[in-house]
This record gives sequence, structure tokens and C-alpha cells, in this order.
Amino acid sequence: MAKSFNINQIRKDFPNLSLKVHGKPLVYLDNAATTMKPQSVIDRITQHYSSETSNVHRGVHYLSEKATAEFEKVREKVAKFINAKKSSEIIFTKGTTDSINLVVTSFGRAFLQHGDEIIISEMEHHSNIVPWQILCEEKGVILKIIPIDNTGAYSVSDFEKLLTPKTKFISLVYISNSLGTINPIPAIIKIAHSKNIPVLIDGAQTVNHMPISVQELNCDFLAFSGHKLFGPTGVGVLYGKSELLNKMPPYQGGGDMIASVTFEKTTYNVLPYKFEAGTPNIAGVIGLGAAIDYLNEIGFDNIMPYEKDLLDYGTKALQKIPNLRLIGTAKDKAAILAFVLPNIHAHDLGTLVDEEGIAIRTGHHCTQPVMKHFGIPATSRASLAFYNNENDIDRLVDAIGKANTIFSKNL
Ligand code: ALA
Repeated sequence: MAKSFNINQIRKDFPNLSLKVHGKPLVYLDNAATTMKPQSVIDRITQHYSSETSNVHRGVHYLSEKATAEFEKVREKVAKFINAKKSSEIIFTKGTTDSINLVVTSFGRAFLQHGDEIIISEMEHHSNIVPWQILCEEKGVILKIIPIDNTGAYSVSDFEKLLTPKTKFISLVYISNSLGTINPIPAIIKIAHSKNIPVLIDGAQTVNHMPISVQELNCDFLAFSGHKLFGPTGVGVLYGKSELLNKMPPYQGGGDMIASVTFEKTTYNVLPYKFEAGTPNIAGVIGLGAAIDYLNEIGFDNIMPYEKDLLDYGTKALQKIPNLRLIGTAKDKAAILAFVLPNIHAHDLGTLVDEEGIAIRTGHHCTQPVMKHFGIPATSRASLAFYNNENDIDRLVDAIGKANTIFSKNL
């Protein structure tokens, strides 16, 4: 049951939000890069290391059994969080990048052939471009790119134009990290499935902004990271339909992913362990469980309308700044505000607002094709979370105003 949404109370749950940076109270607007961690997540990781440190799936002693039970409880929790049919469809990885590489390497090498076509879009993060390019070099598969328009969006028909009988895989980001665009993923999945084409969804920027039911969405794979979900770094999730995961060969070999090993023949473990070679990030998984508990307590019913209002407030406030150009103005958007100013390079702006205690990200955001599309080298990006407030936006706007004054004097 969601608790009531008291922003001042919520902000107190995140110790970093009361930091001072350069003598000023921190305004943290870099949530698309990583999110802050609530005290409950920090405490749970400390508790793990101080009272249940042990390896998992490897011991009969008390601590190992306790750590294994806690670790597997999180798998159940993740399955429930994204409404997967079974917890064995949840593979723990290092993060979104690792999850995508797992699918490209395992599914791609086993089931994609020379000449097969894979559809991605122009707004993909490099982690959903480069692994496919490596596969193109290895196997001669072909990447086809859905173009974006000048709002930073594409339509279902833009996607349909690329479908051919040779399309064998589709891999798309749900919410763009550099533009904030929410893509028409449910409609695309329906069309793809009518042609028996599997679909991977990069949910790195989605799972913290809106609920996802993998059964309703019917995606074949979903990749996301713990650290963008108010959990620790170094842990992520690959959800995959068991019919597909069962057919796929292992991604990496090592301990825990085997049933038996001889020099003549090795057989592999069942799902999900077949894809979890080596000691996993146990504390990370346990911290992720605490992050999901925290998020469930706040509730998407509270988070979504709050973030929408904050996005509207931020959009209007930034639009009032003379000559500021928003990059990413799609109709359906999550709380990400990227922009450029004509006379200030994004990196200079980032440094100047940092002096005011404000953290934004500047650069290409691991989406160089998006920068190329808009004819710019970089943007400044304010990415919001449910613990941000209107004061954070006001402070950013004031800091941009100061930077504008400094730069106009120097012109
Ligand atoms: N992909 C992350 C970002 O957008 C790191 O900042």
C-alpha cells in the first residue's frame, strides 16, 4: 500500500540530498546517470556485510543458507515488481549494458544469421548500438535504424517501414536517456509478435518512472539497472521469457552455471543459474531488494503525477530563458530536460552551475547519434526524480541566468 506523498519527508530519506557542495545546498538533477539511495538501502547493505556475509548457493553452513535465502527473496521481489510469470525468468547481471550484451552474445550468436536484420532506433544508448555492431562484424547481420524527428520521437509507422521478411530481432529503448521521449513500445511489440520477431526493451530509464508489467507488455526481454532504481551500482536485471532463455546457450562459463563438469562434457544448470556464472553481486542484489521495497512504499500512483507536474514546471521555467533551446520536445515525455544555449558550451555551463551546488550532466550522454541528428556536440541535461522539487528547478534557472550574465559580459 503506497504511503502518502510528503515531499519534505521523502527528501529526508536520502542522506545525500542534505549535502552541501561548494558551500551551497546540493541540488541533484543527474538522476538519469544515477539515482540517490535512501537510508533503508544503505542500511540493508551494511546489515548484509555486518551480519550475513557469505557466498550464495555454495554452502550448507548457516550464513551461506541465510545469504542464499535473502538473495533468492530478491529474485521473487523483482519478478513481482515487473510482473514476470516466474522468478526463474529473472537473471541478475551487472547492469543494463551487461543484460543487453548477454542477449546479443547468447541469442545473437546462436540464432541470428548472415543477412538477418535487427531494428534499433536513432535514439538508442551506445549500450544498445555497439553490442549489435560487434555482432554485425562477427556474423554479417544488418542493423536498421528508425529515424527520429526534430522533437526527438518516432512513430509506429516509422518503425513499420523498416520491417522486412529478414527482420529477426528488435531492440529498443522505452524512455530515451538523452531526450526523455517515451516510445510507442506496446504497439511495436504487438506488430513484431504478429511476425514472430522477438523484442528486447531497454528499460534503464523506465523502471524508475512508471510501472512495467512484462506480461502485459509481452516483451521477450527487459534490461534494467539497480542504480537507476535507487539501488546500488554493479547490479542489474535481465528478464527473459523462459521459452527463449531455455533455448539460449550460456553467456559466460564458470561456477554455479553448471550441472556437472568433466573434461569430456559439461552440462549446464537450469534457469536462472545457467546465466549467472561466478559469485554474483550479493550485497548489490540485496540492496536492490531494499530499493524495490522503498519504491513500492512510495508507489507509482504518487510518483507519476508528481513527476509530470515537475516536468511541466521545469519545461515552462526553462522555456522562459532567452535563446534556450530544449532538445527533446516529444508529446510523450518522462522527466528529463535537455537543452543548449547558443553562447555557452554545455561543459562550461555544467561547471558554472556546479559552483552553485547544482549537479546536471553535460555531454553526449552516450547517445552520439542523437547529438549528430540535432547538429550539436553536447547538451546540458537536468533529469528529475520524485525527490526533486520546484525549488531545485528555480535554483537551476537562477544558476543558468548567472552563467548567461558571465558569458554575455565576456562576449
Ligand atoms: N546512461 C546514463 C546517463 O544517461 C549513464 O547518464
